[in-house]
Amino acid sequence: MTARELSNFTVRVDVQLRLAIRADLPKLEWFGQYTHYRTLFKRAYREQQEGRRLMLVADCNDFPIGHVFIQLQSDENAIADGYSRAYLYSLRVMELFRGRGIGTRLLREAEAHVRSRGFHWTTIAVAKENGGALRLYERLGYQIFRDDPGIWSYRDESNETHWVNEPCWILEKPLVDLH
Ligand SMILES: CC(C)(COP(=O)(O)OP(=O)(O)OC[C@H]1O[C@@H](n2cnc3c(N)ncnc32)[C@H](O)[C@@H]1OP(=O)(O)O)[C@@H](O)C(=O)NCCC(=O)NCCS
Repeated sequence: MTARELSNFTVRVDVQLRLAIRADLPKLEWFGQYTHYRTLFKRAYREQQEGRRLMLVADCNDFPIGHVFIQLQSDENAIADGYSRAYLYSLRVMELFRGRGIGTRLLREAEAHVRSRGFHWTTIAVAKENGGALRLYERLGYQIFRDDPGIWSYRDESNETHWVNEPCWILEKPLVDLH
């Protein structure tokens, strides 16, 4: 008896980049993987409604398989000042979909959103240990301008505080107006 031949086939999926809607909030938890960031997602969405942040998602069949968030204002003017510099953060693509250009497209679309609001710079932070993401940012024109201890905290879905200690590089990129 001969072994049955393996059947290989290709599945094409359509991905759309758009701003998050309320219905995305539970889906952003990725079936439990990011439940601990529930409060952060809610705050980002509230601030998107107030015009202070943007949540850009890569939508596949009504599910956010990737995202990058944009902070237009912050207490720290060097990363986001409300008119010239905006901070991109929380760039993440579901593991199954990585290495197919979605992260690059999210970053480019985020830059276009920022540019269309009259900003001239984007900034982004990357953990010093995350060499892959640093390579991606440098390829897209970001340059390191300083480092940061990367100490911050969040409250999880049970209101418990967690501290993150992740030394990082802060990068910036000038947004050249192509028009
Ligand atoms: C970084 C990340 C968003 C890139 O998304 P992506 O859709 O895979 O990106 P693209 O396909 O456009 O580009 C792939 C590039 O991403 C980088 N990368 C980093 N981690 C990667 C991973 N686990 N798998 C694939 N690429 C990765 C590589 O530099 C790769 O470039 P290369 O071809 O030179 O190796 C994604 O890998 C991810 O979600 N990682 C976990 C979260 C994270 O580290 N976010 C960045 C925080 S600063």
